[in-house]
Amino acid sequence: MTRNGLDLSGRVALVTGAGRTVGLGIAEVLAGLGARVAVNDLDPASAEAAAAGIRGRGGEAVAVPADVTDDAGVRAMVAEVATRLGPVDVLVNAAGIPVGAANGQFVDTDRAEWDAWIDLNLYAPMQAAHAVLPGMRERGWGRVLSISSYASRAASRNGLAVYGAAKAGLESFTRHVGLESAPSGITVNAIALGTMSHLRGEPAPPEHAAAIPVGRFGTPEDVGWTVGFLASDRAAWITGQTIQLNGGAYMT
Ligand SMILES: NC(=O)c1ccc[n+]([C@@H]2O[C@H](COP(=O)([O-])OP(=O)(O)OC[C@H]3O[C@@H](n4cnc5c(N)ncnc54)[C@H](O)[C@@H]3O)[C@@H](O)[C@H]2O)c1
Repeated sequence: MTRNGLDLSGRVALVTGAGRTVGLGIAEVLAGLGARVAVNDLDPASAEAAAAGIRGRGGEAVAVPADVTDDAGVRAMVAEVATRLGPVDVLVNAAGIPVGAANGQFVDTDRAEWDAWIDLNLYAPMQAAHAVLPGMRERGWGRVLSISSYASRAASRNGLAVYGAAKAGLESFTRHVGLESAPSGITVNAIALGTMSHLRGEPAPPEHAAAIPVGRFGTPEDVGWTVGFLASDRAAWITGQTIQLNGGAYMT
């Protein structure tokens, strides 16, 4: 593969929620660019299958199943990655849709549902960043990337109030930590996705693609290549930003 400066050889990447869909696409592209990849997922079987798939295509990957909403589990996972692959250079927070959680109209939800969405979309990326940032600072290089959503800014009738609030918090966290981390050679960015080809494992209704200016849904590869660029040295001057990746569906 011609890497055009996007060579991630020698870098260790940890991708959460990478057993399927967006996280999997990110893990595959990062491995294709030469990174050693730790594939996290709540579901051990999908994490193992994803890592095996990457290895089968000549990449280097290990599975590190864990629940990223468990603080101790996140710290243990980061330590395990350091032992098996090396310290984390690139953290990608992709897990964001809690398994089994409802997303009804706000008035129909309760505190337990709010906690599920906020734990996964805000506290989990914070905890993971907190675990990897000290080492990145010591080494003078790092990338913290978080997958966000258009729902952080655009209101929706689809029951996304708490999810959108959590993603807005994640984007604000990205700006603050980006500013704190910039002098240490660490960039911190978010990527806000529009409607993807799959939601909760199901294909998006084809007729909805017509509302997207470029005429199609986003794919895991679209996200993977954006993450691959932001993870590279070529993107060293981009930090504290939220990149809108949505086929033109939402422009600001
Ligand atoms: N699919 C979309 O249309 C869409 C749109 C905007 C933003 N996003 C964002 O993209 C990201 C990925 O979404 P997706 O569509 O790939 O979701 P998905 O549900 O297809 O995959 C998410 C993966 O995360 C894992 N996961 C869930 N909870 C976890 C936990 N506690 N610990 C570890 N892993 C966990 C799941 O097992 C699953 O394999 C999320 O942050 C989501 O908010 C998705």
